[in-house]
Amino acid sequence: MRITKVGVVGCGQMGSGVAQVCAQAGYQILVREVSETLLGKGLRSIERFLAKGVEKGKVSPEEKAGVMDRIVGTTALEDLAACDLVIEAITENAEDKKDILRRLDGLCGPATILASNTSSLSITTLAVATGRRERVVGLHFFNPVPLMQLVEVVRTIDTDPAVLEAVTEFTRSLGKTPVQATDTTGFIVNRLLVPYLLDAVRSLGEGVGTIEDIDRAMMLGCAYPMGPLALLDLVGLDTTFSIAEIMFEEFRERRFAPPPLLKRMVLAGYLGRKTGRGFYDHSSDPPVANNHLVRWASPDARP
Ligand code: 3HC
Repeated sequence: MRITKVGVVGCGQMGSGVAQVCAQAGYQILVREVSETLLGKGLRSIERFLAKGVEKGKVSPEEKAGVMDRIVGTTALEDLAACDLVIEAITENAEDKKDILRRLDGLCGPATILASNTSSLSITTLAVATGRRERVVGLHFFNPVPLMQLVEVVRTIDTDPAVLEAVTEFTRSLGKTPVQATDTTGFIVNRLLVPYLLDAVRSLGEGVGTIEDIDRAMMLGCAYPMGPLALLDLVGLDTTFSIAEIMFEEFRERRFAPPPLLKRMVLAGYLGRKTGRGFYDHSSDPPVANNHLVRWASPDARP
């Protein structure tokens, strides 16, 4: 089972990263977005990331040019019909993902493997929407995709072991390290990470510490590269909120329940870096903690 032609559906934060790492590994990539505007935005974000890599001396100008040449953008899903592997990385909405996989199932040849980068939806639900459930897997990349080493390779009850082997080998060919997980909501990483992130928000809301102190504590006390609130700003508060809702629905355990402060922030548009404000205000460099959130959530707390 040789994977040579790879398609990516969605060129947002995750899809652009996936397209970039595939192209950096030498694959010809077709990436599909719904509009020329979104496609242009995604391709520009890849270009910016590579330019920063050149600045840092991590990527040569020739490699950057080669990577951009290997990525072809399209707005037509039909263009992905001849791919050996298609990875969907659209927004975390079950109906939209099922629709894309159903359409790919109708367009692609019988050997094509369909993968989802979902972080919390059931791969089984997505697989049964197609007529090739044994060729549907989860390939869960981490943000920022070009810098994070891990890919979770997720199998359902029906996944063909040969397909699993082929996609596992594929992730290795990207220079990533695969781990295998069963199709259980949140897989391995989010099962452990999401309750931790939600507890950080609860701690903030209860006045346990300031935004900066909570982040500093986990960075210096546990050697995490980022504090949990800064990480929430990176991942997106809306993304984390929706993952938590799905996990709470599956497990019915309080540790997965999104706290009201997180929900209020999402409702008010504090989505993190993508909207320029979350737990931190990203309009300044370095970002400054939004301490009015602490005063709102816990009037007696420090700042
Ligand atoms: N091109 C090439 N290399 C680059 C680069 C670029 N544009 N930007 C940075 N790098 C390299 C740097 O040179 C450096 O390499 P070195 O270690 O060899 O010196 C390395 O990447 C780290 O970069 P920086 O030093 O500039 O940045 P930081 O040290 O601040 O690290 C980070 C940034 C990698 C994002 C780090 O803060 C981190 O690991 N944060 C945690 C991220 C995380 O937990 N992600 C998972 C989120 S959960 C998720 O995605 C699942 C979803 O379902 C919710």
